[in-house]
Amino acid sequence: MLYAFELSGEHEELPAAEVFACLKIEELDFRPHIRVDQCLVVDIAGKEEDVERALKGHITERLAMTHHILKVVGITDNTQEAVLKLAEAFEPSAYIKEGQNFVVRAKRIRHHVDFPGEFLEQKIGGCIYRKGFRANMQNPDVEFRLILSEKAVLGTLLSSIDRSAYECRTPQNKPFFHPGVLMPRVARALTNLSGIKPGELSLDPFCGTGGILVEAGLVGARVIGIDAQEKLVVGARMNLEAFELDYALLEGDACRVPLKDSTINAVVTDPPYGRSAAILAESLEKLYSCALEEIQRVLKPGGIAVVVSDKAALEYGEKAGLKVLEIYVQRVHRSLTRTITIFQKKGDEI
Ligand SMILES: C[S@@+](CC[C@H](N)C(=O)[O-])C[C@H]1O[C@@H](n2cnc3c(N)ncnc32)[C@H](O)[C@@H]1O
Repeated sequence: MLYAFELSGEHEELPAAEVFACLKIEELDFRPHIRVDQCLVVDIAGKEEDVERALKGHITERLAMTHHILKVVGITDNTQEAVLKLAEAFEPSAYIKEGQNFVVRAKRIRHHVDFPGEFLEQKIGGCIYRKGFRANMQNPDVEFRLILSEKAVLGTLLSSIDRSAYECRTPQNKPFFHPGVLMPRVARALTNLSGIKPGELSLDPFCGTGGILVEAGLVGARVIGIDAQEKLVVGARMNLEAFELDYALLEGDACRVPLKDSTINAVVTDPPYGRSAAILAESLEKLYSCALEEIQRVLKPGGIAVVVSDKAALEYGEKAGLKVLEIYVQRVHRSLTRTITIFQKKGDEI
């Protein structure tokens, strides 16, 4: 069965990578079907009811860089003629039950089509109406969505991601604020890329105000944070308490993590950046090198470490014996480009 993910346009690759990570976390049997600008279609095997329960439940709750999840009705060329042909041909009763009403909404992605979506909304609506279903603009039982990107994807809305919840958790809205924090949506996407599952242990050895720990805690992980500055550990505690999360925090050094070897399922961390960083180390190079050795030591074999930096963490991780899975580059503003490196500890998969 095909499902479409309407991706946010905030990064070229991260939103799709986050979807794949969440599907894996839920142990769904899937393969990518087609990817167009801001829309990813995935073929998911298994019982439809079970797949949709996971999509509407845990996956919707976890995702940060997706807007909506759709059950695909059809995919066609992004021309009005092709969409109308699809609308004439499909059987709405496979998607709406008798007595239910519907609405059709079209979304144009960037410049990919040069005609307004409203015309197609009416035309598709007309096709469904003629097949015996009533429209309801205000409170529909079923919402058909037409994504007009490099292809046209028609589907029914399964669920929407509550992106406003991330806005509510912006650093300034938390009990303790300190500059230099990742935005919650980014922190959540990185947490998802780490593959952490509920009940597992996630470590941030440079936890600062605990922004990453909060997102990991909210997906059900047990979180451990370390920071060299006492005031930040106190602040991180205030922030974690506000969300009633299961955590352990300590003031310490990421180069001397007081944890046994191979005990942590995943690491997501945002070490100090070059310019104005407060560091407890001889140099930033030394800090990266010894912290990555510690990360490799405490991770379980197969465990993932997601490291955000303004310079490539790659060489330090590789020297420490970690395998590099992916590197993403995110331009934050003119003078800050982040590199997100996904490492894996060698050995068996956990
Ligand atoms: C970029 S900030 C992390 C921000 C964090 N993600 C947040 O949500 O607030 C880097 C943090 O590393 C801490 N730090 C610097 N040297 C350290 C060391 N040797 N061990 C542990 N933490 C250190 C700093 O105190 C700072 O809070």
